[in-house]
Amino acid sequence: MRNARRRRRAFGATLFVLALATSACVENVTQTKVDEGRAPQDYLTPVGRFAVDVDRLWDLVFWGAIAIFVLVEALIVVAILRFRERPDEDDERLPKQVHGNPRLEALWTIIPAVILAAVAVPTVRTLFDLAEQPQDALRVNVIAHQWWWEYRYPDHEGLVTANILHIPAGRTVNLSLESVDVIHSLWVPKLAGKQDVVPGRTNFLKIHADEPGEYLGQCAEYCGLSHANMRTRVIAMPPDEFDAWAEANARPQEGEPEGELAQRGRDIFFTGACVGCHTIRGTDASATVGPDLTYFGDREWFAGTIFENTDENLREWLRDPPAMKPMMPDTGSGMPFLGLTEEEIDALVAYLQSLKTQPR
Ligand code: CUA
Repeated sequence: MRNARRRRRAFGATLFVLALATSACVENVTQTKVDEGRAPQDYLTPVGRFAVDVDRLWDLVFWGAIAIFVLVEALIVVAILRFRERPDEDDERLPKQVHGNPRLEALWTIIPAVILAAVAVPTVRTLFDLAEQPQDALRVNVIAHQWWWEYRYPDHEGLVTANILHIPAGRTVNLSLESVDVIHSLWVPKLAGKQDVVPGRTNFLKIHADEPGEYLGQCAEYCGLSHANMRTRVIAMPPDEFDAWAEANARPQEGEPEGELAQRGRDIFFTGACVGCHTIRGTDASATVGPDLTYFGDREWFAGTIFENTDENLREWLRDPPAMKPMMPDTGSGMPFLGLTEEEIDALVAYLQSLKTQPR
């Protein structure tokens, strides 16, 4: 009877530990669905110096805390074993009383104070390093929206993009962060720590990518319905490639879209709802509610970088945006259902994909 209960308890405990251990293996559907086998965002291998600074500080505090934990637990175990009550001992005997022992009290006040001071030195140094605003950094104004990121480059007149942040590798980028609606948080784990984006104030975050590459990011503050879909990608390019990219993308659109279908798409764009929310520089479309679409055709991803920019995905998106990405267009957040016909959708896809920096 007793054995059976004990066995059941042991079985339950084993299950609990297993569940705990494997819960970290559950796939995050939103993150893996679009990445199809690509490396996840991970902060264990930072690639830029600001992320490395934070990582080093974390390691220092973590291993320090582990050492103190092991020491304290070991002392507790020693105390339990050495000073336990023995059967042959007199039950009435009290342990030696240490209340009011100045030497002991000084000791257990001074030791934690020294530990805190030791942690404070590298912490304060890192905080000051991260808060410094370098003069030669590339400036990017980041504007958070429900649920996408807008990037404006004051150093390159006219240059505005959405969701994909291009930066030069090997150069510090100073992001100034603002929100038009609620509190968001920009987090590109490999490049920097998190920074809240708060309506009504400007926060700053420096990022630095040592090597060219693509780094995933995510809004890290719950900001409503599509918070999980508010993602970003940072593309770090060799400096000369970045300069060429910036120059090409700062220019307004010129000329006519090629082909009858794309031209028809343009007409739908400018007579329909699209023009009410989006900008295409060089045309009459200049609204800033939704992403700037000037060079949409060059973008690899859209809608908070959750969808790859293929004709098929774009078609599905235009058919019913809130079905692809949960949104609240009624309250001004996100793209509404537009009731477009298949023919209109084909034309709009042709027009949007024609918006490229290369000659069309
Ligand atoms: Cu924006 Cu969460």
